[in-house]
Amino acid sequence: MKKPAKKRVTNLDSFSPLENKTVLLGVSGGIAAYKACDLASMLRRAGADVHAVMTPNARQFITPLSLTTLTRNPTHCEQYLDSADWRPEHIDLAKKADVILIAPATADLIAKLATGICDDLLTTMVLASKAKVMIAPAMNPNMLNHPATQQNLAILQNRFRYEVIAPEVGEVACGDYGAGKMATIESIMAAVAARLLSHQTLVNKRVLVTAGGTREPIDPVRFIGNRSSGKMGFAIADAAYARGAEVTLISTVEVERAYPVIVVETAQEMQEAVELEFDTSDCLVMTAAVADFRPLSVSSQKIKKNESEDLLLELTKNPDIIDLLGRVKRKDQILCGFAAESEGLVTNAASKLKRKNLDMIIGNDISVPDIGFGSDDNAVVILTQEGTRESLPRMSKRAIADHIFDIISERFRLMEEENGATVGRD
Ligand code: PMT
Repeated sequence: MKKPAKKRVTNLDSFSPLENKTVLLGVSGGIAAYKACDLASMLRRAGADVHAVMTPNARQFITPLSLTTLTRNPTHCEQYLDSADWRPEHIDLAKKADVILIAPATADLIAKLATGICDDLLTTMVLASKAKVMIAPAMNPNMLNHPATQQNLAILQNRFRYEVIAPEVGEVACGDYGAGKMATIESIMAAVAARLLSHQTLVNKRVLVTAGGTREPIDPVRFIGNRSSGKMGFAIADAAYARGAEVTLISTVEVERAYPVIVVETAQEMQEAVELEFDTSDCLVMTAAVADFRPLSVSSQKIKKNESEDLLLELTKNPDIIDLLGRVKRKDQILCGFAAESEGLVTNAASKLKRKNLDMIIGNDISVPDIGFGSDDNAVVILTQEGTRESLPRMSKRAIADHIFDIISERFRLMEEENGATVGRD
């Protein structure tokens, strides 16, 4: 029987992990606004200095007094105040915030943020601040799935680097069913804690990541490919970037990111790109699913289906990129592979770790539905050269990526300690 996914719960009663952190809690006008009260209370109990900012529509659902009482700070609502002070308090707040968390974020607010409209206090403060912005969307499933909302979310995530805390699937307030329920308070708290407490452990490190599945052309229209969507690789690259690394992503899928993305198609192109970057990299994570074989010859014209009953394709072996680099890697470089297995997960991953001379390998069982290829989640086993083995249950690919970089950062720390000096690039 399939085990239920483990629920992440953050126990904040026993300590104050967010002490000295200022959270600007933006509340926009949706029914989930009532949950902002719980969130405000939980953030404060976790030690954060919480300042609530409400849009005019949010006040249709809850009162400023609720948030003032729970945050123990005045709630800000008005953009234009007749204040004696020449500099409005909220501009100072926007500057001092460690994070701006908007929960709930309605479709309307998301659209304003994506286009830079600032016609109320909250949107003005977001634009005036350099703090990290996190949003927890909440809306009707059709509104969430509408191309306009999807496009706006993509702009916020990919261009502005806002963190979107994914809404959950369930029955929403109007009775419709689907994705659109605001994420649970526990998962919002976990995301905020991860953001505020994540250490810049990879500053001065150059991390090279591969993502997606290679395509090996048969003729101008056909290719041999695989099911990799690139999501795991993007999560790896994003996690390294968030920790301060200088990231280069080599991907078969085009994505817009704040770091350089080199788009390739075939295994040979990927090999060329990786080899060009490898020497100056401190760490390579090969998340890509690289085709082991390619057609020996590529037809320059589309192969006609009525030429014969059968089509025999002669395949030749592709270079094993990580295997070749495992032979030449320096002691100050970390090589991390992935192993996609449909059986014998640990045995096969361990054999690849050894054979390819890797520092670590992440095994994922691609025969399990809803993890591995194409999904937002994964469940993995992490094996290291020293013989350690750690299993991570099903969780988001980003959470897995963060865990992988905890291990990689610790390896760098130990390497530096051993050398008594900085290893890596000058
Ligand atoms: O992209 P997603 O949809 O998010 O899916 C993620 C994933 C399932 C593709 C990812 O988690 C994963 O498992 N990637 C590795 C897939 C794979 O090719 O595994 P492998 O066991 O065939 O290869 C082992 C390692 O050798 C991998 O690091 C691979 O990148 C590398 N390799 C393989 C063949 C080759 N010719 N050159 C290589 O460098």
